Amino acid sequence: MSEHTSSQAIMQLAAQARAASQHAYSPYSGAQVGAAVTASDGRVFTGCNVENASYGLTQCAERNALATAIAAGIAPRSMRSLAIYATGFSVLTPCGACRQVMSELLAEDAMIHSCSEEGEIRSWGISELFPEPFTLE
Ligand code: THU
Repeated sequence: MSEHTSSQAIMQLAAQARAASQHAYSPYSGAQVGAAVTASDGRVFTGCNVENASYGLTQCAERNALATAIAAGIAPRSMRSLAIYATGFSVLTPCGACRQVMSELLAEDAMIHSCSEEGEIRSWGISELFPEPFTLE
């Protein structure tokens, strides 16, 4: 997938992110966030936010979706499309920690699509969202 991914494919991925958001464990913020990432073979991996009473241990939806894909054997830097769905935000823009992790695990030309409850969608390239990432290269 690329910038030219059809809007139908984006809507489908956003719907999977939305379904994942329904499993959010977020008793502290109340925000339900889901993420869905597409592998090159078409498989989709999802994640949701998982909060903790020790607030700093909260896990974001995007990083959980990426970790699930990696655990299933998906190659790093091969995933080209990630959708986010979040309740309680006009359109959620990913946190800095998720941007750092996305920039290492997504393909260089990957697109991120974030969808609000109202159906508004914003899209960014990973290099736009996180230019000049920290790497060990
Ligand atoms: N959250 C995400 O899941 N992804 C982000 O990119 C930003 C924030 C979650 C963490 C927490 O459970 C809630 O949204 C409010 O910060």
